[in-house]
Amino acid sequence: MLSPASQVLVRNEEHFATGKWLFVNPTDGHIAATLRQADISVFHQYFDMYQQSKKQGNEQQHTFTAAYPTDKKFDGAVIYVPKSKEQLKMLIANVAACLHPNGSLLLVGENKGGIKSAVKLLDAVCSQTNKIDSARHCALFGGQVDKSIRAFDIAKWQTLVELSVAGLDYKVCSLPGVFNHGSLDLGTKLLLENLPNIQSGRLLDFGCGAGVIGCYLALKSPASDVVMSDVSALAVYCSEQSAKLNNLEVRVVASNGLAEINGKFSAVYTNPPFHTGIQTDYSVTESFIGQLNRYISNTGSLVLVANKFLRYSELLEKQFNAVSLIEQTSKFSLYQCGRIK
Ligand SMILES: C[S@@+](CC[C@H](N)C(=O)[O-])C[C@H]1O[C@@H](n2cnc3c(N)ncnc32)[C@H](O)[C@@H]1O
Repeated sequence: MLSPASQVLVRNEEHFATGKWLFVNPTDGHIAATLRQADISVFHQYFDMYQQSKKQGNEQQHTFTAAYPTDKKFDGAVIYVPKSKEQLKMLIANVAACLHPNGSLLLVGENKGGIKSAVKLLDAVCSQTNKIDSARHCALFGGQVDKSIRAFDIAKWQTLVELSVAGLDYKVCSLPGVFNHGSLDLGTKLLLENLPNIQSGRLLDFGCGAGVIGCYLALKSPASDVVMSDVSALAVYCSEQSAKLNNLEVRVVASNGLAEINGKFSAVYTNPPFHTGIQTDYSVTESFIGQLNRYISNTGSLVLVANKFLRYSELLEKQFNAVSLIEQTSKFSLYQCGRIK
């Protein structure tokens, strides 16, 4: 089904009837197939939408990447506004560098997602912006990219975060749009500071973000084989950079949930997601917990930190014979689970 933002684009399909267009981070997998008469390429930073979009037909038009190559030039682009304004700033800089001079740059998004304030960010590249349409609790704004555009280099947007946690000093790379950009999350800190003995073998950091947990595991247990996974191309990129910064050999996998993960692990560590886009969504973590019996060996364990208000203990007890709450603060609960059923 088309998302409300895509429905607004379909109402305005005459905009895309001529020229080459780049659509960025669509919030459903159907928009490119719906506007099949138009010449559209799609830049995805989220692996779930990338996969769903490819299933609808023309695989070649879809690219999953942290930054879109600027050697391909388009007549126009539409960015679906992300939750993070910093991520939008970076996307505008990237996409403006992909447009011909005076190309059109459009923003679409839900009113409650902050589309109206997001439009101000177009001022960096457009002298004038205007509202094109509003419907379905969404708005579509746009302008012509008529200001001088700098070459886009994702490395210039990276932040180096120096961490000192649980007796270990190390660095991670962060980018706008990556979870808790530029700092250590308090839940993650609680997990690392109360980590039970790290089991050696194959270790998984699920929903790795900038790679804070995965790099810690690889530094503390160099003989282990560490895998990190995330649905976001920005997170995958940062985790790879973070591993390089610490001279670590790890594997970073783009995956929606556990779908792209193979084999069993001796331990899984996670500060799991509870949002999809701007919506609160527990389904990813619920389905992750429900599938763990296929991914954790008989003697393996799960270490999971979550906001205290999220009641995962019942779900964990369905999967494991031994579930202990090893630490709790006013905000977070830390669980260790073993003896998978
Ligand atoms: C709470 S953050 C934790 C990030 C990192 N481990 C840390 O502790 O700083 C959860 C992560 O899960 C990722 N995520 C969200 N939905 C996902 C999905 N469907 N599959 C895999 N990862 C997902 C997010 O991109 C985010 O990086």
